Amino acid sequence: MASFKLLLLPGDGIGTEVMDEVTRLIEWANGTGAISIETETDLIGGCAYDEHGEAISEAAMQTAHAADAVMLGAVGGPKWDGVPYDKRPEAGLLRLRKDLQLFANLRPAICYPALAEASSLKRELVEGLDIMIVRELTGGVYFGEPKEITDLGNGQKRAVDTQVYETYEIERIAAVAFDLARKRGNLVHSAEKRNVMKTGVLWNEVVTKVHKDSYSDVKLEHILADNCAMQLVRAPKQFDVIVTDNLFGDVLSDEAAMATGSLGMLPSASLGAADENGMRPAMYEPVHGSAPDIAGQGKANPIATIASFAMCLRYSFDQGELADKIEAAIANVLDQGLRTGDIAQKGCKTVGTREMGDAIIASLNNAS
Ligand code: NAD
Ligand code: IPM
Ligand code: MN
Repeated sequence: MASFKLLLLPGDGIGTEVMDEVTRLIEWANGTGAISIETETDLIGGCAYDEHGEAISEAAMQTAHAADAVMLGAVGGPKWDGVPYDKRPEAGLLRLRKDLQLFANLRPAICYPALAEASSLKRELVEGLDIMIVRELTGGVYFGEPKEITDLGNGQKRAVDTQVYETYEIERIAAVAFDLARKRGNLVHSAEKRNVMKTGVLWNEVVTKVHKDSYSDVKLEHILADNCAMQLVRAPKQFDVIVTDNLFGDVLSDEAAMATGSLGMLPSASLGAADENGMRPAMYEPVHGSAPDIAGQGKANPIATIASFAMCLRYSFDQGELADKIEAAIANVLDQGLRTGDIAQKGCKTVGTREMGDAIIASLNNAS
């Protein structure tokens, strides 16, 4: 039986609540006899800062490097608003992404049939929606230097962030997007702002070349990122795969989430390059944050994190069948009319995080 090491980093706020449900799914997966997942748990974010004075400790970083995959809940919250910039909770997450070289962030936005009415968009716009946002995750304005605030001494300050991309970074994320498109709808939209940004000009040029050289069988459309944002709420089903930079990908994926009903529904996989044995560093996390407004109340939707665990089973542990079962169980409980508050609907039963987890596990047990 295949055996894997998984590092759990629940983090802050609702991160710990949604991760509790994942630990129960890990027990379920181990119970199937198809796989053996050994877990370790550590701190990240504000809780790590409180304990170690850093948003992630060196020991946790080493465990992450040694693990086959990492599952993360969420980081951040108002409690840490005043901490030094390089020690803020989000810095731990960014360090993990950068140090593990997780350059490819896959953010699938799927509208489950039962949730077509839960979206803020009209049913006919979102029914059957299945988009994959491929976000570049280790470059761009998140990491470019200089990144600083300078005191100009005249009562004014100057803040600088730098957007940097090199050819190889665009080539490898474009290849990920085209490979995915081949297994899906065979269409890639590449979103940038070549009309105002040099990085947009290079992005467009490199994606065009990768397409011409190796993927001319896939349909490629270039779209300006602002138009892409508008099209995502006008007619989201026109998209199959969207490939874009780190910052546009952050914003466009939160936007796409609303077509699925809630940010609480969107999972993600962050992947690095495969080594000679086909193993790639990987982290799985919901797209949402620590949701300070509902933290500690047992209300959070655990589906984004549970679906992220399904992606972990599929992409890191080669257990596509178990992943399919979890996704079918999610669809099943939604069909049964169970809803957390964020996707609450008339005629449906509103439940908490634990009850939603219970129902998904019950559905898995009933199916087997
Ligand atoms: P957020 O995603 O935490 O919350 C936005 C809104 O969505 C809130 O109203 C929240 O209640 C709701 N929401 C989010 N997830 C939900 C869920 N699972 N179930 C039900 N409702 C849910 O974004 P924010 O409020 O802008 O950020 C809060 C903190 O989280 C900040 O410190 C931010 O930096 C951090 N953050 C972390 C991550 C991460 O760890 N990957 C991602 C985004 C934001
Ligand atoms: C996300 C989050 C992060 C990001 C923050 C918390 C650093 O918003 O994963 O979408 O901006 O990438
Ligand atoms: Mn985000």
